[in-house]
Amino acid sequence: MAAPSNVRIALGERSYDIAIGAGLLEAASSWDGLPPASAALVVSNTTVAPLYAARLRAALAPRYAQVHEVVLPDGEEHKDWQTLNRIFDALLSHGCDRKTVLFALGGGVVGDMTGFAAASYMRGVPFVQVPTTLLAQVDSSVGGKTAINHPQGKNMIGAFYQPARVVCDLDTLATLPARELSAGLAEVIKYGPIHDLAFLDWIEANLDALLARDRAALAHAVRRSCEIKAEVVGQDEREAGLRAILNFGHTFGHAIEAGLGYGEWLHGEAVGCGMVMALQLSRRLGLVDEAFTRRVTTLIARAGLPTVGPNLGAERYLQLMRVDKKAEGGQIRFVVLEAPGRAGVRGAPDEVVRQVLADCTR
Ligand code: NAD
Ligand code: GLY
Repeated sequence: MAAPSNVRIALGERSYDIAIGAGLLEAASSWDGLPPASAALVVSNTTVAPLYAARLRAALAPRYAQVHEVVLPDGEEHKDWQTLNRIFDALLSHGCDRKTVLFALGGGVVGDMTGFAAASYMRGVPFVQVPTTLLAQVDSSVGGKTAINHPQGKNMIGAFYQPARVVCDLDTLATLPARELSAGLAEVIKYGPIHDLAFLDWIEANLDALLARDRAALAHAVRRSCEIKAEVVGQDEREAGLRAILNFGHTFGHAIEAGLGYGEWLHGEAVGCGMVMALQLSRRLGLVDEAFTRRVTTLIARAGLPTVGPNLGAERYLQLMRVDKKAEGGQIRFVVLEAPGRAGVRGAPDEVVRQVLADCTR
């Protein structure tokens, strides 16, 4: 087994490492040096727990007197108060104290909910992200955004709360359904146009290898994505400015998710399509040309992601996007490309947004 590579998130006393490699669930070194505690709670879901919880629990057993487990229902539609409360029920019924360490074993839904539970149980307990989807390994497990959804808006209730560590075991990606792999590729592709054109070149050249789950290609994609995210989060942990660029495509994408009902489209699918809309908006604002817009749209389609959005009606899109967390005083603010490889946040006339929606929905 090759040694894992580490990416450091530099946030002062909240700094932590992201370990990336194969066989990390079983490797003792993955769990060395975590905050001491008598109990651990593994939070997972009905799909991931049968695949990986026994391995994680076995690895944790020598370190904690008690290793508990709570298995949540699977799905974005369960990212809500009721499901969150099941984590608190488990913690309280096991008598877990304020040193208990939570382990989020699953994709972004489990990670976001476990993080929020950790932020609030007894006003804060440590937690470790053990992401098992590509999307969670390249994005959601890193950076400390935790949340649940509200029927009126995606990720509306939550907290910034950093994990003590992130452990990305690339072996877990072997069981990921192809549609979920594509969803994860949306967040990988995102880093190219907003920040790193050399990485965009690399993704274009290696997309087939990524789709075939080539281990070296996946390792590079996860590592480079985490490096970029670490750089951005290290400068702007609580999204005072720069961090918003990581939401490229998300304003449109969140509207698709909320508008269709959570779980209808995967988050990554909505982001993929949302990036096409954000590219078209950037083009209509005169910031990028047709060729670059087409280039990235082609890559999104090659990754198996939708490039045409559902026809919710322009007014419904606008209504949903006004609830976006970036909106200020009811004005929607979009992440656009200021130029290829560089993103920024701007308002846009409703009329231009309507034109984009007319171009990109059916
Ligand atoms: P997900 O958590 O729903 O996982 C996708 C599906 O794959 C689920 O059915 C899950 O049970 C299954 N699964 C997970 N790992 C598996 C494995 N190894 N083998 C087989 N099946 C597996 O979805 P996701 O795409 O991982 O995450 C999406 C969520 O992440 C959204 O709620 C989104 O809002 C959130 N998100 C958060 C951030 C952040 O910064 N906190 C960033 C991006 C996305
Ligand atoms: N996924 C966007 C962020 O973490 O800021």
